[in-house]
Amino acid sequence: MRNKTEPSPFLDVALQAAKAGGKVLRKFFATDMRIDFKGEVNLVTEADRAAEAVIVRTIRRRFPDHRFLAEEGGEHATPESIGSDHKWIVDPLDGTTNFAHSFPMFCVSIGLETRGEVVLGLVYDPLHEEMFLAEKGKGATLNGRRIHVSKTEKLNASLLVTGFAYDVRQDLLNNLDHFSNFSLRVQGVRRTGSAALDLCYVACGRFDGFWEMKLSPWDTAAGSLIATEAGATVTDFGNRPYQIYLKEILASNGKIHREMVEVLESAKRSGR
Ligand code: IPD
Ligand code: CA
Ligand code: CA
Repeated sequence: MRNKTEPSPFLDVALQAAKAGGKVLRKFFATDMRIDFKGEVNLVTEADRAAEAVIVRTIRRRFPDHRFLAEEGGEHATPESIGSDHKWIVDPLDGTTNFAHSFPMFCVSIGLETRGEVVLGLVYDPLHEEMFLAEKGKGATLNGRRIHVSKTEKLNASLLVTGFAYDVRQDLLNNLDHFSNFSLRVQGVRRTGSAALDLCYVACGRFDGFWEMKLSPWDTAAGSLIATEAGATVTDFGNRPYQIYLKEILASNGKIHREMVEVLESAKRSGR
């Protein structure tokens, strides 16, 4: 039987896949790549597709009986993997808009869900050579060093981060109300363009809190585990436990969580 302190048997291949995906992104970054539109403002580049292909290929070679949920290819299983307990949740390029504009903030995100629970998460930023990693119950690391959330006690002294969904122009439920409410209560609010990195930056204390709506499991599977393992409180906007198929996520260092929930709930009460 496996000792609790032993690394997961899936870790090696996950690291190999994340690095292979990152290498593809580095190769395409700031080149004249092909860019297509999934919607008016929702892009997909050649790099998204090529990175996803190498990540899936690397994992599938070793675990042909595992399932996948990947942003570009969707949910896919082979005849061997139908009904598997293991599902890899992959965002090959989180931060596509940044990438398409040669803005150096993006990552590969890989999570492993086993019997409905995320047990392993990796977020790799290939330009800054930062590998965030967590295994359930074993803490979180950045390039092998343990990371922890910040100690900021008050919302007033916090630096927060958020993001906006691609339907920001079409849907009134677009997070602009929360953005302005928080902006009046904190030291600063940032929008990095990569939800997976946002969660990791909360995990290592660069940000005190993060909220966003309408994210997908591939955006948050790895990052939410990394944040939790680094001591973050991760819930929905109403302070209920988070799980990756929910549409709202609130992650903080725990100390400012209640104040963040109050701000999010104030929008509902005032209708803005
Ligand atoms: C997006 C990023 C962004 C968030 C968007 C996501 P993509 O993912 O995580 O920060 O605000 O909602 O869709 O499209 O770059 O993989
Ligand atoms: Ca994403
Ligand atoms: Ca993506």
